Amino acid sequence: MDTDVIFPVIQSGWYIAAPSSRLAAAPLACRVLDHDIVLFRDAAGSAHALHDRCCHRGVRLSLGTVSGGQLACGYHGWRYDGEGCCVHIPSLTQGAQPSQRARVRSFPCVEQDAYLWVWSGTEAPPAPPARIGRMEEYIWQQGTLAMQCAATLGIENNLDWCHPVFAHPWTHGQFFHNQLAGFTEHAYETRVTDTGMVLFGPAAANETDPIPESFWFKARFDLPDRLTLEFGAGERRVIIMHLVPTGADTCRLEWLNALMPSSKPLAGVRVRWSEEESTVFSQDRLLLESAQRAYDREGAEFENSVGADTSTLLARRIIALAAQQRWPSARGTLPHRRVVAVRA
Ligand code: FES
Ligand SMILES: [Fe+2]
Repeated sequence: MDTDVIFPVIQSGWYIAAPSSRLAAAPLACRVLDHDIVLFRDAAGSAHALHDRCCHRGVRLSLGTVSGGQLACGYHGWRYDGEGCCVHIPSLTQGAQPSQRARVRSFPCVEQDAYLWVWSGTEAPPAPPARIGRMEEYIWQQGTLAMQCAATLGIENNLDWCHPVFAHPWTHGQFFHNQLAGFTEHAYETRVTDTGMVLFGPAAANETDPIPESFWFKARFDLPDRLTLEFGAGERRVIIMHLVPTGADTCRLEWLNALMPSSKPLAGVRVRWSEEESTVFSQDRLLLESAQRAYDREGAEFENSVGADTSTLLARRIIALAAQQRWPSARGTLPHRRVVAVRA
């Protein structure tokens, strides 16, 4: 079963290639949508993204070095500029030049908001990557987690209202609330936006009302892969995630966890790198990777859904429309607002 039929992948988009701090003097390999990409910095410090394959004998350029702002292959030393043109071949004799055909694909690459972003499409990007926003409000912890499941499964997971009580024992506010107060019947609300959707609870009284300030939890999904999670009710935490599709059934979670709020905007982006896999992420990862194996073997025919799954099915639909390049034109085919009664 072809997983990208079940969980469509948005082929053209700005995706995170790597956190900015991971790219220093040495080239760095990364993967976005089955593209093997090598990142490197030129002499001015600007980042570039090239196909990670030398056009001489196919060696991975990420095994090479950066020399004079150019990327040098580790096999015979062919050197590439930021556009992917081979500009130097050490074995050529005096006066000979590299052929015009000696080049590798380059990907548009932008560095902003503590990340390196690459454009995965073959057409030119219509606009730069959407800013994350709010970066100057907090000091952040930043990390990466590879997951053996489709990016859409990871996106759905973060919009899944009823899973934390079961999936996140002792690590999630909703679990503790359930321990203290037991299950309650309440309603969450979904609203479709120009760039995706927002989920929050409790539901607002009317669809024209703003999202209540007293929300317990709010999750914004912005195409192609961004989730902004905000925990209310005393916790007041913010987590920003990007579920980067590395292939049809693998992804990379790039996460930012707001540590310390700042009373006034910080002068720049403040990020602290973390190598740890937090328990709450590994709890989800194990469950999602097990589900991916079921989809791989059996397709999605076995699925049964209930009302509580409204939010995740909505996200799946939005991603499918965007993958067919029908977003936002088909936005009107989706219910702008749904209020979903659940027990959680
Ligand atoms: S394989 Fe890269 S220089 Fe020969
Ligand atoms: Fe979760």
